[in-house]
Amino acid sequence: MTAKTIETTPYSDQKPGTSGLRKRVPVFSQPNYVENFIQSIFDSLEGFGGQTLVIGGDGRFYNDVAIQKAIRIAAANGFGKVLVGQGGILSTPAASNIIRHYKAFGGLVLSASHNPGGPDGDFGIKYNVSNGGPAPERITDAVYARTQVIDSYKTLDTPDIDLNLIGTQQVGGMVVEVIDPVADYAALMQSLFDFDAIRALFVSGFRMTFDAMHAVTGPYAHAILEGMLGAPKGTVINGTPSPTFNNGHPDPNLVYCKEMHDLLMTPDGPDFGAASDGDGDRNLIIGKNRFVTPSDSLALLAANVHLAPGYKDGIAGIARSMPTSAAADRVAEKLGIEMHETPTGWKFFGNLLDAGRVTICGEESAGTGSSHVREKDGLWAVLLWLNILAVRKQGVDEIVREHWKIYGRNYYTRHDYEEVDAAIAGQLVDDLRAQLPGLPGKTFEDDLQVAFADDFTYHDPIDGSTSAKQGIRIGFTDGSRIVLRLSGTGTVGATLRLYLERYEAADGRHDLDTQLALEPLIGIAEALAGVKSRTGRDAPSVIT
Ligand code: G6P
Ligand code: ZN
Repeated sequence: MTAKTIETTPYSDQKPGTSGLRKRVPVFSQPNYVENFIQSIFDSLEGFGGQTLVIGGDGRFYNDVAIQKAIRIAAANGFGKVLVGQGGILSTPAASNIIRHYKAFGGLVLSASHNPGGPDGDFGIKYNVSNGGPAPERITDAVYARTQVIDSYKTLDTPDIDLNLIGTQQVGGMVVEVIDPVADYAALMQSLFDFDAIRALFVSGFRMTFDAMHAVTGPYAHAILEGMLGAPKGTVINGTPSPTFNNGHPDPNLVYCKEMHDLLMTPDGPDFGAASDGDGDRNLIIGKNRFVTPSDSLALLAANVHLAPGYKDGIAGIARSMPTSAAADRVAEKLGIEMHETPTGWKFFGNLLDAGRVTICGEESAGTGSSHVREKDGLWAVLLWLNILAVRKQGVDEIVREHWKIYGRNYYTRHDYEEVDAAIAGQLVDDLRAQLPGLPGKTFEDDLQVAFADDFTYHDPIDGSTSAKQGIRIGFTDGSRIVLRLSGTGTVGATLRLYLERYEAADGRHDLDTQLALEPLIGIAEALAGVKSRTGRDAPSVIT
């Protein structure tokens, strides 16, 4: 069958953000919108003729439509094979694993992560390269440039693939293999963690609840936690993926998982609570009476990861995104290993992981992962926590407190102002940037002296590339920090993120309320940036 070339005209708004192209479904449903973007991806790549492409998504509304289009365009462009998850499902970390495991050329990950789905919700397309990780900026920039001039795409006149039928089907000259989305991922987890110890933990009466949020991790969690690890049935809640996430918001934070949080704070609640987001790469960890911030979780996992068989020989280094707290830096220092600070976005970890410079990575935005794949991995973090709890035979709260007694505590919070007028937000950031040269040496609140103030520029030590304007940092001599940046994942207006951090030494006070502990910094940030006064908001939309 010969490929058809269809004429098209460019859309001006196909610029990939922090994590691929994310837009509302009505935007993606415009004529040729998906086709233009996927053809632009393929036009920006070389050497994929006859190679394998992985396609999978988080099961959200429009997933199936986009997958059928992607398969036809891949076939028409000369890919040899597509591997697609049954039902069109592959969690983002599972897709990364499939790309690596089957040595695919790359993959299309169809997801808008933790954003709501449905006919008026969000959808997204992200291209991952052969290491299993998100495409670097060099490629996403080329894709964007191509979308601006594209005048045709290639496709085939073929019937839809049956995405529920495991096995191979043919689309033109290309083979499509529908695979079990869970099996390879579950085997990978089993190779990393002490499943016997975790199984024994459940036998001993340990109780956990895992909220799959009606999203993609349901099948994975059912199979691994309740199937392979013997957790009681009912441990996994909301475990059937729904195209609208049951009209919910699949973001595992304290707003959308408030019920679970409250349950964990009750005396007869479970020992451990966890959740993952729409596409399975984020995690939420709550112990009995103890919410673990993502920044602390990164530090704790790095300090204890050697207790898991897959990491028994230790780790090469740790990387965190710039706004993530410096808690992990203290662990790296003690272990005498490399520590890297990168811009927001998992793609920046890829080079460091590929080069073997770091083993564990994490972001304040509820992402933690390791060199086992090239995406952050929600269930991986949950299983590592379980492995640590099983070996240390202590509760989460006890482990966290012991950690702070050794390393000190980094009080940390993030204040989000969502759907702000984009012009106001941009001006606000520009105005703060203009103040930066005058800040070092200045003292606020009597004793908080500015040590440095800059707009973060990352120099990738592996490929030498530079990424500028990655967020404003104002650091104080006591280790406190104010960070302000614009989100790269929002789909409506602009989202301002204000990150606040204060270090309390190992022998200091570790039991303060976080918002109170950070009050002086919150005041300084408002005085300098005027987020509330200039946006007219009296409080953040979300506090994490
Ligand atoms: C996605 C990316 C992360 C990033 C997060 C927040 O989840 O995969 O790497 O940290 O978005 O990004 P944002 O630009 O919205 O702060
Ligand atoms: Zn996600």
